[in-house]
Amino acid sequence: MQLPANLRSALDELFEQTNPSELEKASNRLTRRYRDEVLDGKMHISDKNAALGYIAARFPATYGAVYSALDEVADICPSFLPSSQLDVGAGPGTAVFAASRIFPSLEKAMLVEQSNDIIAIGKELFSRLITEKDSDIFAVKAGELPRETSSATGFQYAFSTNWQKADISTLSGEKLPKADLVTASYVLDELQEKTQDFLVDRLWEKTVGVLLLVEPGTPAGFKRLMRQRQRLLEQSAHILAPCPHELTCPVQSPDWCHFSVRVERSRMHKLAKQAVVPFEDEKYCYLAVSEKKPDVQYCRILSRPQRSSGRINISLCLPNGEKNTEISTKKNKKLYSLMRRVEWGSRVEKIKP
Ligand SMILES: C[S@@+](CC[C@H](N)C(=O)[O-])C[C@H]1O[C@@H](n2cnc3c(N)ncnc32)[C@H](O)[C@@H]1O
Repeated sequence: MQLPANLRSALDELFEQTNPSELEKASNRLTRRYRDEVLDGKMHISDKNAALGYIAARFPATYGAVYSALDEVADICPSFLPSSQLDVGAGPGTAVFAASRIFPSLEKAMLVEQSNDIIAIGKELFSRLITEKDSDIFAVKAGELPRETSSATGFQYAFSTNWQKADISTLSGEKLPKADLVTASYVLDELQEKTQDFLVDRLWEKTVGVLLLVEPGTPAGFKRLMRQRQRLLEQSAHILAPCPHELTCPVQSPDWCHFSVRVERSRMHKLAKQAVVPFEDEKYCYLAVSEKKPDVQYCRILSRPQRSSGRINISLCLPNGEKNTEISTKKNKKLYSLMRRVEWGSRVEKIKP
């Protein structure tokens, strides 16, 4: 996956005036904090360098993960045409950039974020892609939040962003608008468990169409989503993806359900990560829920298909709540040819031997 060309050039322009060694240092520091899931009360993105480090080291990967998850949602619910998005822990607006590519129907987004430095970069990125215009889009009662609103057109279509600098761990639901699409990507891992619960409850209350949670593809990320899966099911949510059922998850520790997206690395991305390889594989977990049950029944491919000469092994999550390994050989031409085309994370509608 590649970032869209206009986003890539906006990033290149952003990095033109950046000191590469400062960027590398900031990226390394940030990567360590994320990897160790440090929760010490300090913001990971604590200054401008950290914000630029985030853009260089993490933005392409989190964009890829959110894009892939939303692509799946769009595929499962072709009638879902959101016009509004609420994105919390928005960072530079990664999930909004991704959603706007998948859903051209989107007209407006509210982005809630605590770091002024990443907000400034997000605004700059949006302004490089869209033309500024004055207007208020989301109705938030005056005085409830420090307001920073920018609206725009020209982002392929009319599109407005409304940035709110706020702490999502204490934000009252009344201060958030309802939205067709609600997203929290790579955010829960920065919050204590109680706060995760508080936030997800608020987000579910605000969801008119789809709520998407994305987390790092680690056992800890999976565990966080499993907790929210259970809690959301108890609140009458229905799972759109990745689970093909709402029964107990058959993926048990030490295994964990996660997916992977290959993201192309830019020069800055390589520099920030001291990498030579021109791509990276971002592992992610996600959960998309809605009030409505999806119309389709499917099986989910849980890992990279193992292909050897004349034989393909595929691990599947089934609609009956079981996990199964499907083995197909050239003897069954139809199944074999279907299995040759599927990938880790994709859906297969029906598996018939
Ligand atoms: C890993 S970044 C993810 C950014 C973006 N969602 C993405 O996918 O690229 C997590 C973001 O959540 C923000 N965040 C963490 N705790 C927060 C809080 N209590 N209130 C508001 N934002 C918060 C951080 O400042 C950071 O920008």
